[in-house]
Amino acid sequence: KRPAGAPDRSLARDVTKVGVVGAGLMAGQLALLFVRRLQVPVVITDIDQERIDRGIGYIHGEIDKLAAKGRLSPDAVNRLKGLVTGSLDKKAFADADFVIEAVFEEMSVKQQVFAELEQHVAPEAILATNTSSLSITEMASKLRHPERVVGFHFFNPVAVLPLLEVVRGEQTDDAALATAFRVGKQLKKSCVLVKDAPAFVVNRLLTRFMGEVIATIDEGTPFEVADTALEPLGLPMTPMELLQLVGPAVAQHVNETMHAAYPDRFQLSDNMQRFVDAGKTAVWITDESSGTASTEGGGRTAG
Ligand code: 3HC
Repeated sequence: KRPAGAPDRSLARDVTKVGVVGAGLMAGQLALLFVRRLQVPVVITDIDQERIDRGIGYIHGEIDKLAAKGRLSPDAVNRLKGLVTGSLDKKAFADADFVIEAVFEEMSVKQQVFAELEQHVAPEAILATNTSSLSITEMASKLRHPERVVGFHFFNPVAVLPLLEVVRGEQTDDAALATAFRVGKQLKKSCVLVKDAPAFVVNRLLTRFMGEVIATIDEGTPFEVADTALEPLGLPMTPMELLQLVGPAVAQHVNETMHAAYPDRFQLSDNMQRFVDAGKTAVWITDESSGTASTEGGGRTAG
């Protein structure tokens, strides 16, 4: 069944090579998902070789973990690892027909990434962004071919959470959108078409929710009380665990976007800034013993 609002699927183009810009927390998870589900070459890039190597190391490590769980044969392990390459040179993206960026959450940085990519990829290659909150229309506005830009917003942990928000910018054409939906389906995600509005749907709701939790801490409720109050509702994580999973810096960027758009509803918070300043950035999923997300420094000290 075609997701609500998705264009005619016959317009979708084939994707035979994928590019991933960024090799951080989200980008590595994305590259892994694309190679696993699409089984096509995936090339990743970042600002230096060290980051690229770390990204590839993460992807190889996750492939090995899947093999250890009996989900990939030794042949598949070698094939998937062989499909993932890294390059500092965006020329390696020349024959990619679907490129997704997951770089720093800053409009000018993302615009620059797309402008540079446009010099290398074919005019109809899809340029997708995993932005958490920024406008797809604005991101595409300076390009020669803004009609191929789509929002493709995943949730942490990417391998586990089924939802994918597909965002149509004002100039996105039906072929780009149809291709995005087909790719989303190949990735085995549940795609929903969402409006190009600040933080789309999920992060808009989540940011408001997290903002209220942080506001109760700001107002003097002990950290532990605010963080565990909703436990009886059976949420999979406490709000602060979720904050650590997403990364306080990312959450703060989204909150800033929302504050700028709706200052009456989204407040900035000193406590939130303290989380960010403490450098508690979510890192690669490194907790080998449990397989769950881990963060540097722990998260239960502020407030
Ligand atoms: N990365 C990859 N896989 C992970 C993972 C991670 N960080 N954490 C857990 N998993 C996998 C495990 O390997 C396991 O897989 P398996 O069953 O195939 O072996 C499976 O998930 C279940 O893990 P566990 O049994 O260890 O743990 P839980 O059942 O407690 O689930 C969870 C962990 C899926 C992370 C769950 O706590 C959860 O859903 N939390 C809420 C996450 C959430 O709301 N994310 C949205 C954040 S918003 C966002 O990302 C948007 C962005 O723009 C900011």
